Amino acid sequence: MSWIQEGELNLFEKIFANVLKAGPIPKHVAFIMDGNRRYARKKNMERQEGHMQGFNKLAETLRWCKYLNIPEVTVYAFSIENFKRTQDEVDGLMELAKQKFERLLEERENLEKHGVCIRVLGDLNMLPLDLQQAIAKAVVSTRTHNKCFLNVCFAYTSRYEITNAVREMAWGVEQGLIKASDVSEALLSECLYSNNSPNPDLLIRTSGEVRLSDFLLWQTSHSCLVFQSVLWPEFSFWNLCDAIIQYQLSHKSIQKARDLYQEEQVLQQLEADRACVAELLQHQGNGKPVDAQRRQEALQRYTFSREARVQDFIQTLKHKRNSFFTDLCRETVFT
Ligand code: FPP
Ligand code: MG
Repeated sequence: MSWIQEGELNLFEKIFANVLKAGPIPKHVAFIMDGNRRYARKKNMERQEGHMQGFNKLAETLRWCKYLNIPEVTVYAFSIENFKRTQDEVDGLMELAKQKFERLLEERENLEKHGVCIRVLGDLNMLPLDLQQAIAKAVVSTRTHNKCFLNVCFAYTSRYEITNAVREMAWGVEQGLIKASDVSEALLSECLYSNNSPNPDLLIRTSGEVRLSDFLLWQTSHSCLVFQSVLWPEFSFWNLCDAIIQYQLSHKSIQKARDLYQEEQVLQQLEADRACVAELLQHQGNGKPVDAQRRQEALQRYTFSREARVQDFIQTLKHKRNSFFTDLCRETVFT
């Protein structure tokens, strides 16, 4: 099955979708697509068939999201923990992903028509080289599309992502690109695989498990979390609507918490900059008192130079990541 499904909602679904669209619609929805194997057991089918049905459900869900004007979706397709499953299952999932990313390339024109940008979040080095290349080609060929975004988390866990972000910042300090005092929550967010996306507004997990399983831990602190008992291959348009209604009911309090957090972040950064400037002035003036105007001017200069330094560092990281994908597209697989 293709990633982009054409096809309309039925009349009843359309009416309900329009009612929902009168309220706030999440701009970014994340899915933990859980329950494929239980579904396969329930239906007496092979485990791999359950995963294939899981992919088909993802394609269907993307069509619903498009109709509901949800421009960004992030899915947990393969966790680093999933490598601990039997070799047979891991191989099956790798093969399914390779087929689907290759299929995606064949659908390039359609993806361009709909403006779909595909990103893959995770440590691709953990994957077989042919899959890495299929992923890189899909990512590079849709990189400039900007109407809707699908982020596929593959060889991903949140703690690994955060640790990697900390390593990137340590590298930046080591290279003299940033100072240790530039490290902040905002900078860490920029070093995550998800740096190009706003945080999810809504996270949905299917299959009745009520936990995050190391998925987007940093990004979902102000998201509406919805846990549903339905198995992923049985997820329906109505399950999606139900989750959106829950989001709409909590929208105001989520927005308030987010605004408060933003304000706190601005204050924290100001305090951090002030502390750095105070230390600098003390050092330069050998401890002599400095008047308020000079202190203010020094603060402005310091903030300006910190922002420029941090922006340059972020650009270097982006370039490093883009080159990783571009280089993979150029490599040939020797088997
Ligand atoms: C969780 O169900 C599902 C997975 C670990 C795999 C999810 C993958 C897909 C839906 C295919 C997506 C593929 C691409 C290329 C995006 P489970 O296996 O944990 O099932 P269980 O909870 O019933 O044991
Ligand atoms: Mg599971």
